[in-house]
Amino acid sequence: MYAAAVPQLLRCPGASRHTGKRLVSYVLGIETSCDDTGIAIVDTTGRVHANVLESQQQFHTRYGGIIPPRAQDLHRARIENAYERCLEQAQLQPEQLEAIAVTTRPGLPLSLIVGLRFARHLARREHKPLLPVHHMEAHALQVRMEQLTEIGYPYLCLLISGGHCQLAVVQGPGRLTLLGETLDDAPGEAFDKIARRLRLYVLPQYRLWNGGRAVEHAAQTARQPAAYEFPLPLSRQRDCNFSFAGIKNNSFRAIRKQELAERTPPDGIISNYDDFCAGLLRAVSRHLMHRTQRALEYCLQQGLFDAAPPTLVISGGVANNDVIFANLAHLAAQYNCRAFRPSKRYCSDNGVMIAWHGIEQLLQNGQYSLRRDIDCIDIAGSAGFQHTAVNDVALAGIKCKWIKPL
Ligand code: KG4
Ligand code: ZN
Repeated sequence: MYAAAVPQLLRCPGASRHTGKRLVSYVLGIETSCDDTGIAIVDTTGRVHANVLESQQQFHTRYGGIIPPRAQDLHRARIENAYERCLEQAQLQPEQLEAIAVTTRPGLPLSLIVGLRFARHLARREHKPLLPVHHMEAHALQVRMEQLTEIGYPYLCLLISGGHCQLAVVQGPGRLTLLGETLDDAPGEAFDKIARRLRLYVLPQYRLWNGGRAVEHAAQTARQPAAYEFPLPLSRQRDCNFSFAGIKNNSFRAIRKQELAERTPPDGIISNYDDFCAGLLRAVSRHLMHRTQRALEYCLQQGLFDAAPPTLVISGGVANNDVIFANLAHLAAQYNCRAFRPSKRYCSDNGVMIAWHGIEQLLQNGQYSLRRDIDCIDIAGSAGFQHTAVNDVALAGIKCKWIKPL
């Protein structure tokens, strides 16, 4: 099962460059699934030659959430320029590219279509293959770009972002098996909504930050981190699914109660917001740990890691969180399992992860099988993985001796 690290070179005449003894190829990655326009060029050794990221966060925070038609307008207005800057940064000509990878699913359809149309146009004009990329798979594979020799397939991956929360076994691009997912909100979405309800944005330092980052930072100054307690979600369900709606509703109630007690004005914030953030962060960490622990036990029970060192990868925007990552790494260590996450600049959405997924596709399939009809490639707002074992996990009914958070 344990695939050796991918070969360091890919032979592609006409689109490759000798660097010393190595022959490398370049893949352009285009990401527009949500509110970031990301375009990057990565080579087959994992070297990033250009990484352009145009965030729309400042615009959308003013309205308290993403407005899809505005996100589309901003992608349209910025994509061409982002592409030009990307080529300039990389000092490459379009004909030197081996392929063009683009996010086609899942995501906001109005945003996805901008990236796909632009990618189609480039692929036709430059006579390059177009590689469709599953956004969540790209998050799951990104870590290999920087740790190619360390992380072979298969591994367990926890994907935690603003739109998703999934546990999956990763065996290669297009080869993921879902073990569990959220039944309602995603953790990033919960952080964003709770931070907004808490009104963290009234504090100047958090005005332009996303909710998760603001909660993590605020929690650091807590003096009574145990002041707020949250019930553990899905504690009776012996599966690997998640639920954040309970934590969110309990948060709203606790904030309201404290506001009433303190007579907080409508544009104010409760005095012990930092204690609240510490409690929230602990509750989210604990829930993520529980479900990941069961997934690890399931993988071990199935003999999935028999020929490989057990590996847990954490990815997606919420993987930026040091408290959450430290807790999950601590859990993994109890199972002699190594824990990895991508560098922080690559945990959140970016074009690099899309280009890298394209490279993984090339390495897995070879270039010629990838010359698909460009018009057959389309977008999809939602998209699952190749296999699901969600029911198998539930049927296994695994009982765990819970590892406590740090
Ligand atoms: O993966 P991502 O960039 O976009 C999606 O595909 O959703 O994730 C964005 C999410 C946001 O909800 C944000 O609150 C969360 O990642 N996030 C964090 C942190 N940084 C970003 N959550 C917790 N702690 C952080 N440091
Ligand atoms: Zn994402």
